[in-house]
Amino acid sequence: MKKSNIVLIGFMGTGKSAVGRSLARELKMAYLDIDQEIEELVGMKIKDIFSLYGEKRFRSEETLMVKKAASRSNTVISSGGGVVLKEENVAALKETGILIEMYADSRIILERVKKNSNRPLVQGASLEDIETRYQARRKYYDVADIRIDTGIQNVDETVQLVRQALQDLEGR
Ligand code: S3P
Repeated sequence: MKKSNIVLIGFMGTGKSAVGRSLARELKMAYLDIDQEIEELVGMKIKDIFSLYGEKRFRSEETLMVKKAASRSNTVISSGGGVVLKEENVAALKETGILIEMYADSRIILERVKKNSNRPLVQGASLEDIETRYQARRKYYDVADIRIDTGIQNVDETVQLVRQALQDLEGR
């Protein structure tokens, strides 16, 4: 099957949703946010799914949603930061999409995640907590075809960097 999707992966707070929405608009592609779809399906915020049912249940909902997302075409897909932890998720997304990792300095991530109360895994986290979790995740994000630093420019500029990187990849 042709890879017509663009999948944004990466740690929490690296801008996957903001960049994904804007990228989809620019490329005139559909947009799908896996976390948002899970929230709609379950009828609860991510933090409530975690606190009421636990992370394991969240991860199984996530895998179902990943498979549904991967079956689409011409779609920019924003994934949650933990999607890459399961090999079957990565395999499904890679089959139909190009994977782009968004990354940023831990200090920038901390500033971004502090403003949002819907991320149970980093609620009240210190810089050290973020760094430890980020390091533990590092190798999982290496599945990406492209990596983009989202820490040093705004969303529009990041979208342009992504477009350029996609063109470079196609031209290789
Ligand atoms: C998670 C990241 C979150 C969300 C959930 C778990 C993770 O998504 O899926 O809180 O394990 O990294 P964002 O990366 O969009 O914050």
